[in-house]
This record gives sequence, C-alpha cells and structure tokens, in this order.
Amino acid sequence: MTLADKIAPSLLAADFTRLGEEIAAVERAGVDLLHFDVMDGHFVPNISMGVPILQAIRKVTKLPLDAHLMISEPEKYVEVFIKSGASSVSVHCEVCPDIPKIAKRIRDLGARASIGINPETPIDRVIADAEHLDMILIMSVHPGFGGQHFIPGSLQKLREVRGELKRRGLSVDVEIDGGVKADNIADVKAAGANVFVSGSGIFGEKDYRKIVAEMRDLIAHAQPTER
Ligand code: DX5
Ligand code: ZN
Repeated sequence: MTLADKIAPSLLAADFTRLGEEIAAVERAGVDLLHFDVMDGHFVPNISMGVPILQAIRKVTKLPLDAHLMISEPEKYVEVFIKSGASSVSVHCEVCPDIPKIAKRIRDLGARASIGINPETPIDRVIADAEHLDMILIMSVHPGFGGQHFIPGSLQKLREVRGELKRRGLSVDVEIDGGVKADNIADVKAAGANVFVSGSGIFGEKDYRKIVAEMRDLIAHAQPTER
C-alpha cells in the first residue's frame, strides 16, 4: 500500500495575532494537516500553546489537527487533547515507558497514535513496537523551538526507520519535523518520510499557495535513495 504524502504546516510559525486568517490561508493553499506543537517547559526548554487554543482552532477548520506533545507525563494529557479535537497525537518515546499501552490509549480515544523520537534517541525501541503505531515522528531539530536548521543525520535515521518498516511489511506514516523547507523536502521524501511538517518553511513565505504547490511538486519528483 502506498502511503499518501501529507504537508503539515507547523502553527508555531504562524502569526498568532491573526491565527484564524493564517489557518484559512494554509487551508486554501491545500495543506493536508495542521501541526500543533505543545511544549511544557519541562520536557523541552520552552512553553508554547495548549488545550484552549486547540479547541478554538477546531472550530475554524476541517483539517485534521496533528498534536505534537513535547511534554513530560503525556499519558495524563492525551485524553484532553483528543477530546479537544486532535486527530493524531504524537508523544515522545523518551517519556513513554510503555509504547503499546499509550498507543492503545490514543487509538481507543479515537485518534491516530504516533511516537516522537528526538535526534539523540536511537530508533530501536520505537521500531520494535511499530505495529502498534499509525505514525512515527522523527525530530530533525532538538525540540523546543521553531526556525532551527535541519540536522543532516536525520536523513540516515529516516532511511533506517522506513527500511525497517518495509522489511516488516508495516505501512506506517513517517513524519519529519524540524527545519524542513523547499530546499530539502525532496531529500527527506527520498529518505522515506511521507508526512512533512514545515513551520518557517511555509509561514516564512509570502505566498502560501505557491510554496505548498512547490513543495508538493518536489515531493512528487523525489527519487528514493539507497536504504
Ligand atoms: C520544534 C517543533 C516543530 C517546529 C517546526 O520543537 O516540534 O514542529 O515548529 O518548525 P520549523 O519548520 O520552523 O523548524
Ligand atoms: Zn512539532
């Protein structure tokens, strides 16, 4: 089965004074998901946005909301995020001792289950539990801030993850998050990603329709690299 390629603007890079307009603009530009970064000042050294903002966003768009929980003790919060409108929830393996358990909880609550992996974390534990997951999120920057540079070693990580999933016959989305822009999106597609988070790479541009179309074209023409 071929997995659909999905473009997910990260709202962290939107103009928060005009959040509704920004969402309407990327929706018109034809994006597939909205990526929503939640930071707790503990798992990552920054605080971003939380439940009331997600609830407000849920009212103004039909797009699936992709909640990325960069928080300690995520098991305490998955329910409220799903009830507030998240369609997929990523929790980090670094703070999840039991991946099958939290994935089942997310799925039982009606959302797609995803596990995030930080740049310095090996993929082994997550890959071993991949049959319980709908998506694996590879961080290509150290989580906590938008607008950072893509860590080049993430490409090899993507190849390993996609290679292992293929070897085991699993059709799981692989999301790449951090520093993804038009100039590297073909490389991340070629390495095995099919869900592309981009914050500054989209909201930093003047014409969202143009940049999203350009990214889609680059993704469509990317050639797979050796695994
Ligand atoms: C980083 C966040 C990312 C970030 C991406 O901690 O998880 O989603 O907003 O933003 P860019 O694309 O600007 O790196
Ligand atoms: Zn994110």
